[in-house]
Amino acid sequence: MPIIESRIDTGSASYKANYAAMEKLVADLRAELKKAREQRSEKAIARNRELGKLTVQERLDRLLDRNTPWLEIAPLAARGMYDGGVHGAGARSGIGLVCGREVAIHASDPMIKGGTVYPLGVKKSLRLQTIAMENRLPTINLVDSGGAFLPMQSEIFPDVDDGGRIFYNQAIMSKMNLPQITAVMGLCTAGGAYIPAMSDHVVHVKGTGAIFLGGPPLVRAATGEEVTAEELGGAMVHCAESGVSDYIAEDDAQAIEIVREIVEMLPPARKGDFPMREPKDPLYGAKEIYGIVPEKLSTAYDVREVLARMVDGSEFQEFKQLYGPTLVCGWAHIHGYLFGILGNNGVLFSESSLKATQFIQLCDRQGIPLLFLQNINGYIIGREYERGGITKDGHKMVNAVATATTPKFTVILGASFGAGNYGMCGRAYSPRFLWMWPNARIGVMGGEQAADVLVTVKNDQLAREGEQPLPEEFVAAIRQPIIETADKEGNAYYSTANLWDDGILDPAKTRDVVGLAMAAAANRPLEPRQQGHGTFRM
Ligand code: COA
Repeated sequence: MPIIESRIDTGSASYKANYAAMEKLVADLRAELKKAREQRSEKAIARNRELGKLTVQERLDRLLDRNTPWLEIAPLAARGMYDGGVHGAGARSGIGLVCGREVAIHASDPMIKGGTVYPLGVKKSLRLQTIAMENRLPTINLVDSGGAFLPMQSEIFPDVDDGGRIFYNQAIMSKMNLPQITAVMGLCTAGGAYIPAMSDHVVHVKGTGAIFLGGPPLVRAATGEEVTAEELGGAMVHCAESGVSDYIAEDDAQAIEIVREIVEMLPPARKGDFPMREPKDPLYGAKEIYGIVPEKLSTAYDVREVLARMVDGSEFQEFKQLYGPTLVCGWAHIHGYLFGILGNNGVLFSESSLKATQFIQLCDRQGIPLLFLQNINGYIIGREYERGGITKDGHKMVNAVATATTPKFTVILGASFGAGNYGMCGRAYSPRFLWMWPNARIGVMGGEQAADVLVTVKNDQLAREGEQPLPEEFVAAIRQPIIETADKEGNAYYSTANLWDDGILDPAKTRDVVGLAMAAAANRPLEPRQQGHGTFRM
């Protein structure tokens, strides 16, 4: 394959300024991740110790194969929400290797409000289940949770994507023959009791693990009966009498050993036959991406420079290089896996949309995974382009993205605005995974544009009523809050807090994360499928 020749001058002032800005964003990201992993109250730490429990980090360390990568999902979920201390929405989730097998893991954190489940905690559980289902992964739950966070029960319980959906999914996963293993390491209360009950394998820790539909506080309130958690739903109750649990463990460490033994007995994964070759490092250092990505989202750069630092050997077979140049399409390997890659080099025109449609069709028919590198302000607008049919050409691209059945992955490198988000496989287009870079922004449009639209609408209204346009100070009063809201709600941290993505990435780690995600996705072989797409509007 041809090699991308970088034209970047690493000694230039703009490179150095970009580098320093991105380095700062990455340092901030690391600090946020550390805080989410480690910041717990003294009281919670002492209580955990008193109960003889391991911390979530210690549980994960024992569960995962030593020195193997851990692909964490949504570690900054709920950041800045609730009281600001519900790190990771109260749980750690991810994909890791257990006995050499890729598994999806969800571990509630008892050191955050008793491991209770907030609305975004439900969303995070559902996200991990979706990942397990889409990629055909076994699931391990390490449960230690006081159940629903009761002050917010109306936001957790009644709707289609609320708590009940977790157990519904468990039934569906069981039907799909996706093994589910649960270790009861604390409370599994009320609805939470169904997490072990609906699993294939249940390990129960003596002394701390308990399963019941109504916990001691509820029993006391309802019947006046005084009963301890252990007497009500402890390991002896469920291993010896009720049969809810299958294996008894003396402590957390033994429970995790048993979970590993269960994984070892699972039938081997049947990985898909995706095109691969021997992996090679890129020719250029990954950290050089810091100097390439401009500080300002509006400054253009060549996405090939990012590719040169992301793909094996910096080798890239470009498709239709001269046609529709605002979208770069082509084939390259990442950690040995062949991908069809689409990266934005400007707004999407009819030509770039048609090129994308053809490229996606080709990759889909050949079973080549797709990687979308989003940096997109949208599809081109204006009289000429409407007449040229930009809407129907954009539609073909969106249709092809939606219906492609090969695994899709998306990284938002910068802008993710308007229908460009859809055409470039935003969250609603079911990429197997989606990440953001820390500089990225997402929204229907930028704050300035949204403010301009609303001022224009207001002035048109006034003109219809025979009034004068808004005076300057009123214009500012309309614009300011819209710009501020868009600024706050469009940034990567707001996105990740709301679980609109699977996490914010250090740009230099993107290659490794995409490679790991593809290794996980390969657990689902491409099925004999109905090829083709919906009807394209010609
Ligand atoms: N909703 C909201 N907050 C809850 C909660 C719930 N279901 N369960 C516990 N909490 C809070 C506590 O108020 C406490 O908050 P604080 O740190 O601000 O004081 C924190 O979680 C820790 O609880 P605490 O009881 O001090 O810790 P613990 O380790 O001794 O026990 C539990 C944790 C979860 C075992 C225990 O709190 C409990 O039994 N909770 C009720 C469980 C229940 O019946 N849930 C039904 C929901 S469907």
